Amino acid sequence: MIKLPIASPYSLPESVYWLKKNLFGFSHAHAGLVQTIPRSHVLNANIIPQYSLVFVGDIMPTWKKSFGIGDKLEHFIRGSDYLIGNLEGVVISSNKTPLSWMPSDLWHDPITLDDLNAIFPPGRTCLSVANNHAADLGKAAFFGSMELLSAKAFNTCGSRQHPFCDLNDDIRIISASMWSNRKNDFVFPLADAVRYCKPKAFNILFPHFGYEFELHPRPKMIDLAKGLLKDFDAVIGHHPHCPQPITAEAGGPRPPTAGILTGRFHNHHQQAPLPLWNGRQGTRRAEQSGSLALGTGRVAVFAMRATAQQKFAR
Ligand SMILES: [Fe+2]
Repeated sequence: MIKLPIASPYSLPESVYWLKKNLFGFSHAHAGLVQTIPRSHVLNANIIPQYSLVFVGDIMPTWKKSFGIGDKLEHFIRGSDYLIGNLEGVVISSNKTPLSWMPSDLWHDPITLDDLNAIFPPGRTCLSVANNHAADLGKAAFFGSMELLSAKAFNTCGSRQHPFCDLNDDIRIISASMWSNRKNDFVFPLADAVRYCKPKAFNILFPHFGYEFELHPRPKMIDLAKGLLKDFDAVIGHHPHCPQPITAEAGGPRPPTAGILTGRFHNHHQQAPLPLWNGRQGTRRAEQSGSLALGTGRVAVFAMRATAQQKFAR
């Protein structure tokens, strides 16, 4: 299959379409296939709230610039039990210059971890390392990044060695990627995710899937997520760099994606619906918020909070 001379998981036509969306704005295709639930929504009022989880989407490199979150988002996150996000790319030591030859390669300075530390306690933060940029700098950089995350006390999931993170006895986050810009044997692939569902726990799949700059999931992504919901209690996706609809319906919800946290390419307001939460078993409350981050220009920040409620009648 022919590809553009950049590291990309896509075919040439898909890469050209990616470039078009990047230059000219988000795609509005496939609107209406997924019914969006209200901004604040209780799926099951008959259960007692037990845990509050915040999800953020792709945490993109800031290229040695510090970032923070606005008061609105800080208020939104405050009091939650756990924060889950996707760390796009790897973290490298600040005294190392990566041997990168692709303009599309992504890596973080450790300042990203300091900024995240200031937002939420690392011990209650779970960072996914399963994404299409995780293998950009190779295996040694990936495992070096895992060591840096561990040294800062962040929980991780999404490597082949550690696909999941048990937030507690009741909630398991399983992270996996549909895409990789480079062939590798260390980023956990989506196809293997179902094997790690924990019996009698609430299993949340946090996949890197879908397509960037698309406000609505493609039909094949809806079908994929519906299939995944036969095994997982919720699917909360990342990678599209914009919030997509959240929906819940009898028999299961369809794919949501948490929005991008900060980004090099996304320094403008997104005219998009706010993010999303999905649930199958009526165990949580969904709320959504948006705010602006300072330090990287005008960067849209989105987060989603879900209150997992007691529990988990199967
Ligand atoms: Fe991505």
